[in-house]
Amino acid sequence: MKRLFVRAMLALVSVALAAAVLTACSGKASDQPKIGFSIDDLRLERWTRDRDYFVAAAEKLGAKVYVQSADGNEQRQVQQLENLISRGVDVLVIVPMNSKVLDNVIADAKRNGIKVIAYDRLILGADVDAYVSFDNEKVGELQAQGVLDAVPKGNYFLLGGSPTDNNSKILREGQLKVLQPAIDRGDVKVVGQQWTPEWDASKALRIIEDALTANHNDIQGIVASADSIAGGAIQALAAQQLAGKVAVSGQDADLAAVRRVIDGTQTMTVYKPLKSIAGTAAELAMKLAKGEQPAYTSKINNGKKDVDAVLLQPILLTRDKVDDTVIKDGFYTHDQIYGAK
Ligand code: GAL
Repeated sequence: MKRLFVRAMLALVSVALAAAVLTACSGKASDQPKIGFSIDDLRLERWTRDRDYFVAAAEKLGAKVYVQSADGNEQRQVQQLENLISRGVDVLVIVPMNSKVLDNVIADAKRNGIKVIAYDRLILGADVDAYVSFDNEKVGELQAQGVLDAVPKGNYFLLGGSPTDNNSKILREGQLKVLQPAIDRGDVKVVGQQWTPEWDASKALRIIEDALTANHNDIQGIVASADSIAGGAIQALAAQQLAGKVAVSGQDADLAAVRRVIDGTQTMTVYKPLKSIAGTAAELAMKLAKGEQPAYTSKINNGKKDVDAVLLQPILLTRDKVDDTVIKDGFYTHDQIYGAK
């Protein structure tokens, strides 16, 4: 009787073991890793391109990708992340709306064995596995230098990005690195500065309208941290017949911005090859899903840990460089920029 019981127990244990092995093989990450791509805001042009490049690269590597856009709403992003966790993704790739509110949901992901990658924007105070971006301080330097080269002396307005985006702060640091000597010499006077919620063009338009009014249109340079808000600023300038007379920077090489650079209403933009960041992120995600060790180029502290990072190089885009950059890379066709003949 006792022997029978032991045998039955042994049989049970081996069935359980076999089941466990089966689940381990068929489950997570084995054949087709699942990646959740949580994007702050697909209403902005650049992120639609990040999405397309990322999905293409990850699918080519054999993953299945679920994309979500929070449309600039931080609560929605948290809910979407929870939803992706319950769908059983292996990796979360996140463009955070608010860099400071994702620690709990990321802790939840980590408890479920999910790897987390911060995409283009760092996530603060959270246990992220990797960060992939561009050298954002360098972007800020290029922006300030672009405006300074065009207008070495004058009144400047600093039009910052979203206050909840860690990049906004780093961009500003880069800008000030370049501007400070000119400010100290008295060549540049900063007559105002403001962050632009959600990087929203219409909010930027209002900010610059108000700044022009407050300064009786006496502004010669606007250091704008991205093309979306540069577009709003240039609309405000145009209403005062000042478009093309005031130097304005940007970032992202949005199609409308590249056209403005050619027309001369925007001084420069920064081209960040999105195919590279998306491809790098897709490879990182696959490696992490498979438990392999990716190659990183640096480490960045996010307030909780030193996060392994890959930082790519941004490229200055002025009117004379359009053909050699965005067209050469196939980011745009000639006709998209100059119009069909
Ligand atoms: C920032 C990013 C910029 C721009 C902006 C608005 O985080 O660095 O390149 O895309 O978001 O989407």
